[in-house]
Amino acid sequence: MEKLVIRGGATLKGEVTISGAKNAAVAVIPAALLVNGKCRIENVPEIQDVIIIRDIMDKLGAKVSFEGGVFEVDATDLQYRSAPYELVRKMRASYYLIGAMLGRFRKAEVAMPGGCDLGPRPIDQHQKGFEALGAETKVVGGVIYAEAEKLVGGNVYLDIVSVGATMNIMLAAVLAEGTTTIENAAREPHIVDLANFLNVMGANIKGAGTDVIKIKGVKSLQGGTYSIIPDQIEAGTFMVAAAATRGDVLIKNVIPKHLESITSKLEEMGVTVEEFDDSVRVSCPKDAKLNKIVIKTQPYPGFPTDMQPQIAVLLSTVKGNSTIMENVWSGGRFRYVDELKRMGANIRVDGNVATIEGVDKLTGAPLHATDLRAGAGMVIAALMAEGNTELYELRHIDRGYENLEAKFTALGADIRRVIEI
Ligand code: EPZ
Repeated sequence: MEKLVIRGGATLKGEVTISGAKNAAVAVIPAALLVNGKCRIENVPEIQDVIIIRDIMDKLGAKVSFEGGVFEVDATDLQYRSAPYELVRKMRASYYLIGAMLGRFRKAEVAMPGGCDLGPRPIDQHQKGFEALGAETKVVGGVIYAEAEKLVGGNVYLDIVSVGATMNIMLAAVLAEGTTTIENAAREPHIVDLANFLNVMGANIKGAGTDVIKIKGVKSLQGGTYSIIPDQIEAGTFMVAAAATRGDVLIKNVIPKHLESITSKLEEMGVTVEEFDDSVRVSCPKDAKLNKIVIKTQPYPGFPTDMQPQIAVLLSTVKGNSTIMENVWSGGRFRYVDELKRMGANIRVDGNVATIEGVDKLTGAPLHATDLRAGAGMVIAALMAEGNTELYELRHIDRGYENLEAKFTALGADIRRVIEI
């Protein structure tokens, strides 16, 4: 078993370069199933979720290679196959295979995906979208089936703002006949990235980044080169870690606009954030007394739910009562709170609201990463804490953070990966 051994107390200083966005890469790569010809996708993070997608695409019969952050896919000669269950179940984002395969073959059969357990994860809005294009869908025995004689553009109003449904409908619609309109669409940066990728390959998508997206179906897509945007959540994680250790860190290869909700909350707490063209510098004096705040998670451009555990950790030693209202996921997103309490934090959870009463300090403890972003939060907690922390269940962190220990070590953290026999 692997664990991270982290000695708390270091002040993070220096520069860190942010990798390509996980949640863009896991949609853009399956989108290559729709393309005739070779797609070269650059700035792809080397994380477990991408490795799993590479293996799925390989099993489906696409020609794939992934080296040095460059992912090449050629799915030109692909014949229809169902997606391999043992791989698909390992990651949530495998649901993008449904839209991509439906778009390409007019048929998809994909086992219900796994990934982080954040409470119930329905896919009714994905199904609603596919059905608006003329497909029949059903979920039987944990497998999602979608099939259409032909796909014809339609209007879809999403009852709930869903990142996954917005992207999946885009994937199914690019090669459909006529125009599809998605209303109440999600506006996350990775949605714009998927639209840009598809447009570079010959699609006609307008409005991505707003709540109305129009997709005019085209006959075919051709290969090309595309570079994935920087990871908003990895950047936010390092921003919070810099503040939590009262450090001074230049976070490079970011799009500062994507970080605005995080920047403004850090500034409200009293942290200094300077924005440059493609970097942000986060600094905080050693003896800074930060302000308590209220956080409400929202779809983009609101405060991201994927930054919720990290900011809760930072707030755990801020004097007074801060509150966090989780508005995107029900249930599982506060499971890390019990781990944080073992370090001395004082947090009460009532439904979707956590009230955090700042304590003087956290103390190192053996911990488990309960999901990907909770794992990142636990690393920050360990860096802030007095003494040593041992963090287990690293598979969650490895799904979504590239070179996490190396990046923290370069900033002066004392963090080591140890294999326990
Ligand atoms: C994406 O998940 C991200 N995953 C998640 O990040 C992120 O937390 C989430 O968006 C919200 O930003 C990927 O991009 C791979 P949703 P997704 O559909 O698309 C409900 C991480 O840490 N809903 O926007 O699955 C749903 O239950 C991961 O990187 C329906 O009711 O999220 C939730 O309450 C974890 N019906 C809300 O919508 C549906 O058909 C938002 O979910 C679909 C969703």
